[in-house]
Amino acid sequence: MRYAQILGTGSYLPARRMSNEDISKIVDTSDEWIAERTGIRARHLAAAGEQTSDLAVQAARAALADAKVHAEDIDLIIVATATPDMTFPATACLVQNKLGIAGCAAFDVQAVCAGFMYALVTANAYIQSGMAKKALVIGAEIFSRLLDWNDRRTCVLFGDGAGAVVLGAADKPGILHAKLKADGAYSHILNTPGKVANGEVDASPFLYMDGQAVYKFAVKALSKVGADVLLEAGMTAADVDWVIPHQANQRIIESTAKHLGIGMDKVILTVAEHGNTSAASIPLALDVGIKDGRIRRGDTLLLEGIGGGFAWGAVLLQY
Ligand SMILES: CC(C)(COP(=O)(O)OP(=O)(O)OC[C@H]1O[C@@H](n2cnc3c(N)ncnc32)[C@H](O)[C@@H]1OP(=O)(O)O)[C@@H](O)C(=O)NCCC(=O)NCCS
Repeated sequence: MRYAQILGTGSYLPARRMSNEDISKIVDTSDEWIAERTGIRARHLAAAGEQTSDLAVQAARAALADAKVHAEDIDLIIVATATPDMTFPATACLVQNKLGIAGCAAFDVQAVCAGFMYALVTANAYIQSGMAKKALVIGAEIFSRLLDWNDRRTCVLFGDGAGAVVLGAADKPGILHAKLKADGAYSHILNTPGKVANGEVDASPFLYMDGQAVYKFAVKALSKVGADVLLEAGMTAADVDWVIPHQANQRIIESTAKHLGIGMDKVILTVAEHGNTSAASIPLALDVGIKDGRIRRGDTLLLEGIGGGFAWGAVLLQY
């Protein structure tokens, strides 16, 4: 059996940190309100000249160094992003060029905050089928540019960043099992409708969210997909060493963990310092947990993400 194994991880946060106090100078909000409802205390924001591909390349270089893999040995690059540098070409192609390589397959996946789950599962399929040997899977976002900075209901929630993993073909696990789900009937509760058309942006270029509807859907969907992945893999919550959830809201993470029967002492939390970095949040949290020594080689990890679409999924793997 051929598996896709994580050979290394890396991440990048832009230098500028914006605390809840800083945001309360822009909109009518408070550290107390934001922290109590979401767990968020701060987020990082990209500099004016920084593009999503720049964040992605920083994370990718760190992951390649961690994996001790040369960029030339990568034969697949997937970037999960809802905030690409351009309408086209794909950010993955720009990342490839900035890494100084050419020739390998490179494309983006768009599943918003579930993007890293979709990208990881796609790379896993390439590796299991023999179509790729070493893949760079990146989640990178500059969500701050989709926000209406006059709208306190949304601008306090998101941040910018990137996380990356290098996956390699191996005889031992690796990714054990995964499940991806989507339901387009929920596209109206979380979206950014504007697109470039006829020389202009044809609808609102800002993120819209029905927070309560998203909250309810997220807890239900993440609890079910996590439980299903464990069941189908013949494992239980007791087999999981660490959960690395999408970092949107601490209360969603806590409710989901409770439904799954997993204690919060087994959950990697970065939402306080990162905010919701969409497709970047899971690989960012994974890298934090690995680099601070909590996640060790051989540990069983459950990764879970959900976002606009709705799209969601879970990946069970042995690190
Ligand atoms: C966004 C969220 C924190 C809002 O919390 P909530 O308890 O649902 O709050 P509501 O939207 O009902 O708003 C309650 C009040 O707080 C106010 N409010 C909203 N944002 C605020 C802010 N940043 N600061 C202060 N007050 C705020 C509202 O205006 C409202 O006031 P009103 O009652 O006077 O009209 C919560 O719904 C949530 O986390 N949802 C999930 C979001 C998410 O995870 N999205 C990403 C998925 S990938």
